[in-house]
Amino acid sequence: MAINRVMVIGAGQMGAGIAQVFAQNQFEVKLNDLAEDALTKGLSGIEKRLDRAVEKGKLSEQDKSQAWQNLSGTTDMNDAGACDLVIEAVVENMDVKTKLFKQLDDIVPAHTILATNTSSLPITEIAAATTRPSQVIGMHFMNPVPVMKLVEIIRALQTSDETYQVIEDTAKKVNKSPVEVNDFPGFVSNRVLMPMINEAIYTVYEGVASPEDVDTVMKLGTNHPMGPLTLADFIGLDTCLYIMEVLHDGFGDSKYRPCPLLRKYVKAGWIGKKSGRGFYSYEQ
Ligand code: CAA
Ligand code: NAD
Repeated sequence: MAINRVMVIGAGQMGAGIAQVFAQNQFEVKLNDLAEDALTKGLSGIEKRLDRAVEKGKLSEQDKSQAWQNLSGTTDMNDAGACDLVIEAVVENMDVKTKLFKQLDDIVPAHTILATNTSSLPITEIAAATTRPSQVIGMHFMNPVPVMKLVEIIRALQTSDETYQVIEDTAKKVNKSPVEVNDFPGFVSNRVLMPMINEAIYTVYEGVASPEDVDTVMKLGTNHPMGPLTLADFIGLDTCLYIMEVLHDGFGDSKYRPCPLLRKYVKAGWIGKKSGRGFYSYEQ
């Protein structure tokens, strides 16, 4: 099956990045968000990144125009009715995602594949909310999407081999390196990464070191490009907390308990770079 038209739902940091890479690789892309202002912000972020790539000589003016022509924004989810693939990138919450997948299942044609960019939630449960579970799959891009090569492709229990193959081929067409993963909480990436971030938060909570010093230790001592607290702010502390809760509930193991300081920051609305404050301040 050929994928030509793609809808990306959620124009936040992940959705906008996913829409950008598809538009740059000759797919016709519709970027959707509930909120008009989030959609405008997502589209203007893409435009800025394309402009910067042209300025740096990494993209031709012609390729930029082509990518921009391939892309359009919409707040009407019914536009998914013309798409071969829908990639969902809304908030990391099972109720929101299953409700959305049920709506999409009614809108899209019979051949359409429904993919989720969830960081940790069970794909099997999302697939079961639809009447097409064999055409539901996890397509987990990494942040920032235009830069990071990996896409974890997660099979639900019900995902067909044909759906898997189409999604693997599609990931290669957008210049990503796919890795096949089975459906367990946090998959591979966040099962390994998020407990490290949570432990870094514990070291601050227990007064072992300041956020700056924890980050310096991990950057200079273990060659991480960003320290774990900078990375947590970059991912979004709300998303980090959701992922820890999925690991904790999914495995029933106390080693995944979210740090109380993480909960406190999220309750305060200090959810990282996107809110202007997290472990660090981003207010100009
Ligand atoms: N969006 C798009 N492009 C970005 C970007 C962003 N937010 N931030 C940086 N870039 C691009 C820059 O434009 C630049 O591109 P060119 O080389 O083409 O000019 C390139 O990235 C390098 O940028 P900088 O020189 O400004 O900065 P850097 O060298 O410090 O790299 C970084 C920035 C790539 C983000 C690097 O710090 C890094 O790799 N950090 C770790 C990222 C990571 O671990 N991501 C995974 C998060 S976990 C996840 O995604 C899964 C989940 O479910 C939570
Ligand atoms: P975000 O908060 O930046 O963006 C989410 C967007 O979804 C918002 O613009 C919001 O208005 C929109 N939205 C919410 N409900 C909607 C609905 N029903 N219909 C349409 N739009 C809706 O979040 P994000 O960081 O981009 O994360 C999105 C998803 O990607 C989550 O599942 C997250 O776990 C996953 N993810 C995040 C990262 C990361 O580093 N942040 C990495 C990989 C995967």
